[in-house]
Amino acid sequence: MNVNSTVTNQVASLEVDGKKIHLPIIEGTEKERAMDISELRKETGVITLDSGFVNTGSCQSAITFIDGEKGILRYRGYNIEELAEKSTFVEVSYLLIYGKLPNKKELEAFSTGLTRHSLLHEDLSHFFAGFPSKAHPMAILSAMTTCLSTFYPESIESNCDDQVNLDIIRILSKLRTIAAFSYKKSIGQPLIYPENSLSYCANFLNMMFAVPSEPYEIDPEIVKIVNQLLILHADHEQNCSTSTVRTVQSSGASVYAAISAGIAALWGPLHGGANQAVLEMLEEIHQSGRGYKQFLEDVKNKKEGIRLMGFGHRVYKNFDPRAQILKKSCETVLSKLGVSDPLLDIAKGLEEEALKDTYFVDRKLYPNVDFYSGIIYKALGIPVDMFTVMFSLGRVPGWLAHWKEQRDSGVKKIFRPRQVYTGPNELQYQSIESR
Ligand code: CMC
Repeated sequence: MNVNSTVTNQVASLEVDGKKIHLPIIEGTEKERAMDISELRKETGVITLDSGFVNTGSCQSAITFIDGEKGILRYRGYNIEELAEKSTFVEVSYLLIYGKLPNKKELEAFSTGLTRHSLLHEDLSHFFAGFPSKAHPMAILSAMTTCLSTFYPESIESNCDDQVNLDIIRILSKLRTIAAFSYKKSIGQPLIYPENSLSYCANFLNMMFAVPSEPYEIDPEIVKIVNQLLILHADHEQNCSTSTVRTVQSSGASVYAAISAGIAALWGPLHGGANQAVLEMLEEIHQSGRGYKQFLEDVKNKKEGIRLMGFGHRVYKNFDPRAQILKKSCETVLSKLGVSDPLLDIAKGLEEEALKDTYFVDRKLYPNVDFYSGIIYKALGIPVDMFTVMFSLGRVPGWLAHWKEQRDSGVKKIFRPRQVYTGPNELQYQSIESR
């Protein structure tokens, strides 16, 4: 149990079949309260049913705080607005994983580690040749993360802290190389190897966009924007992919297996895949000529189940602070790069209309982090099917932080929810002739 939560002297009372039980109420450091139901089934024979885990806390965590009503997001106590403005992705990664802002020496050691471990084993680089050219880069990223573990069997056998720290560095550094290589593979260009003189984000841009035949200039302002994008995606407490990472960790599988599963979970269009879906939606509205107002009508009528992608959030019911930062950055990037994108006008129109429409207002649906990120990625020259890969690169430190927090807690409790069975009662097996 996390030392910072308090067992209050309040209890919730519950009566099942005439038996009354008292459930302790625990309180977190931001006064969030939870009923501890760990004895519920033992005491009453019933379980809770909570589809989509809307009311279920799966763990106690000291990493990220979100107040969805007030639009607050903090990593280890620091407001996202301040981190996005003043910090770097490498520093934020350290903060999330190790729980405090690094001093100069710590940051230098961490950065050097990331630089030194950026190369892939040459045998692993050959794997890229085996993927079809149309392979989705998220499939490549997830598969290659599992493949990484085959080169580091010691990480599966050893569980010592030094090994864990090395695995963390390797994953953070090499996923960036894998992401860039998967892009180069998809466009048939030669792989560009990491360049040790560059910072984390500049190195990524270089691997993505440099070619051996001509020099590539890295714009420091673009590097700053990439840092900001990755920081904004770096953690979001118990979302679908992070919960997946924790679930896999709970079985004792390796950190590579856990991160690979997290990438797979992030891929879906209701989660990280939404940034790709937003851009596809904007392009569809643009090309079909149906106009954003008609599109919103179709969404409200739930025509073919379409949703306004990049809108709505399970936790944010007022505004998503990440979307607010990105909206501003989007304008800055487009004007700096001199890009005039009709998709941005459609996005603004959709946002403006939706925010005054009772369908969206009543359901508390606001733009989320994915609404504007795709337009920025597009302006930076990142192809649409790489958008969710960008989200993954940002989310890796968050996944690692949760993996480590759970490992370090020493609690060995496999995640194993129960169910309410709704299938047939006992049947007699029939031979195939009589069916
Ligand atoms: N467009 C239209 N209607 C929506 C939308 C939307 N984007 N989101 C929710 N609704 C409606 C939904 O149809 C339902 O209406 P009704 O009450 O009439 O049945 C109501 O709002 C509640 O929706 P829900 O699906 O029960 O809400 P949820 O909290 O389970 O889902 C969500 C959250 C993010 C999956 C959902 O809002 C959604 O599908 N959004 C679009 C996809 C998206 O942008 N995802 C990125 C999330 S942020 C990044 C991340 O965490 O990965």
